[in-house]
Amino acid sequence: MNSRELRQKYLDFFLARDHAVISSASLIPENDPTVLFTTAGMHPLVPYLLGEKHPAGTRLTDAQKCIRTGDIDEVGDATHHTFFEMMGNWSLGDYFKKESIAYSWEFLTSPQWLNLDKNRLAVSVFAGDGDAPFDQEAYDIWAGIFRNNDLPLDRIAKLPKKNNWWGPAGTTGPCGPDTEIFYWAGDPSKVPAGFNDDNDLWIEIWNNVFMQYNKNAAGRFEPLVQKNVDTGLGLERVLAVMNGLADNYQTDLFRNIISKIEELSGRRYDESPEITRAMRIIADHLKAATFIISDDKGISPSNTDQGYVVRRLIRRAIRYGKQLGIKIPLWTKEIASVVISDYHDIYGELGKNRQLTLASLDKEEEKFNRTLEKGLAEFYKLSGDINGVTAFTLYQSYGFPLEMTEELAAEKGIKVDRDGFMSELKKHQDLSRTAAAGKFKGGLADAGEETTKLHTAAHLMLAALRRVLGDHVVQKGSNITPERLRLDFSHPEKMTPESIKAVEDLVNGAISSHYPVTCEELSLAEAKNRGAMGVFDSKYGERVKIYTIAPLQPDGHPDFKQAFSQEICGGPHVENTGVLGHFKIQKEEASSSGVRRIKAILEK
Ligand code: ALA
Repeated sequence: MNSRELRQKYLDFFLARDHAVISSASLIPENDPTVLFTTAGMHPLVPYLLGEKHPAGTRLTDAQKCIRTGDIDEVGDATHHTFFEMMGNWSLGDYFKKESIAYSWEFLTSPQWLNLDKNRLAVSVFAGDGDAPFDQEAYDIWAGIFRNNDLPLDRIAKLPKKNNWWGPAGTTGPCGPDTEIFYWAGDPSKVPAGFNDDNDLWIEIWNNVFMQYNKNAAGRFEPLVQKNVDTGLGLERVLAVMNGLADNYQTDLFRNIISKIEELSGRRYDESPEITRAMRIIADHLKAATFIISDDKGISPSNTDQGYVVRRLIRRAIRYGKQLGIKIPLWTKEIASVVISDYHDIYGELGKNRQLTLASLDKEEEKFNRTLEKGLAEFYKLSGDINGVTAFTLYQSYGFPLEMTEELAAEKGIKVDRDGFMSELKKHQDLSRTAAAGKFKGGLADAGEETTKLHTAAHLMLAALRRVLGDHVVQKGSNITPERLRLDFSHPEKMTPESIKAVEDLVNGAISSHYPVTCEELSLAEAKNRGAMGVFDSKYGERVKIYTIAPLQPDGHPDFKQAFSQEICGGPHVENTGVLGHFKIQKEEASSSGVRRIKAILEK
């Protein structure tokens, strides 16, 4: 079975069970200050898991592109990736545990679908603790299925929160117990009688989360009004399982990329464990970088936030390329071209942004090549542990991301003073606070009041920019923290102080007019007809939500013809612009070629 068939089968299975197929959201979360990337299929769906109505209904399914950098050090083995695709199905207050488990079992074992050997499957359920009880219901459902199939009940493990709980790590949001499904990758004639979490041959293939709680700011678990199901099946892993492979990098999701690396380096993938590892790292990192740069939000390598992660990925890949002896100049785009040709029909943005992506890789590679050699020479001259000043010099003068210095140091058996590096960095202040705090791990947003206000202010500002500068202005990206909003938009030149003032005045005028903010669901065609703004138009499937900021008519309804702003958007927003306070633009600067960036705040 190839990846296309598997992806399609999954979607078809759930489509046939009344799920709407929605398209993958961007890799860059919108209006979520706590996380740099979309890390799971549920991430873009958080507002709906919390009770907002999804335009496509209460049963959804998709293939979501994800980036997780928390395990980046483990990339190089057979199963870890920074970029991966998560197949998922959701019930938004619709079905719950019984149907969810039955669907998973049928999809995995039915001869019509994946036809996996039942005897090689095991599951785990939540054992219970002080926050929430043992998931008896999930256990009983599984026990029924296992009995019917003559499978030992010892293959249903009861595990603690660390294994069988899913939700935001350390922050607030929807969460709950989960049940995980494992496949025995060892000898099929020697499947152990019971499940054992320590045995790596039991591979986790699917996670069904039963979201019945919301973790509030006080750290308590309140029952959710709407009970949801959130599942995730790792496409790369299951594809390997379906093909009897122990190595995800030998599936069609990597085969062409690995062949290209073999061709460029003149080495063979299975030549030695070191070579295999280097090739996997290069394949994974450049695939991830290609997807991030190609994302419609337009990320390029830089020293902050997502840009910093891309830079790290590319530079790490280049270093391993060097280790493999790749001599061809500017080779990273060769790998990206393979990624693009392998995936462009599934993820259209790859094809659409191809030229930009390849050029961006060339530029980053050129930049790093200028200093890499010298930097490595400097590094190998060092003896003893590396202090903050030296680590900073390697970063500043030779372009070594801190993590790369740490990795090289670990190979040499020496240490790096990370805190010392950080204080040097603060002195020079370049890397943003968020990146420096290592905000790469995941977690969900608390859609705080300030963030919501700034989100509405961002809509007002985009509308004002179009009035002042012209209709060529479209949003290229946004990022909102509780302190400020940041909006990137297309415009060829620096804004004049007069036009900045005009935008501020328009926004403050809209605020003092106390316009109501209304939300409607329309089809994409209707939304476009209305002239609603929206760059991410296929994200929510067929029907979309439009937020309109408009004056009231005498009959008390918003006057859509006089709308100040109409945008396709997932929300949330304030109900009336009157609550926003005073809007102020703090900074207007270049973001990339043809794109300007504004940072703005709301004063009390
Ligand atoms: N959200 C769940 C996960 O990522 C399904 O594992």
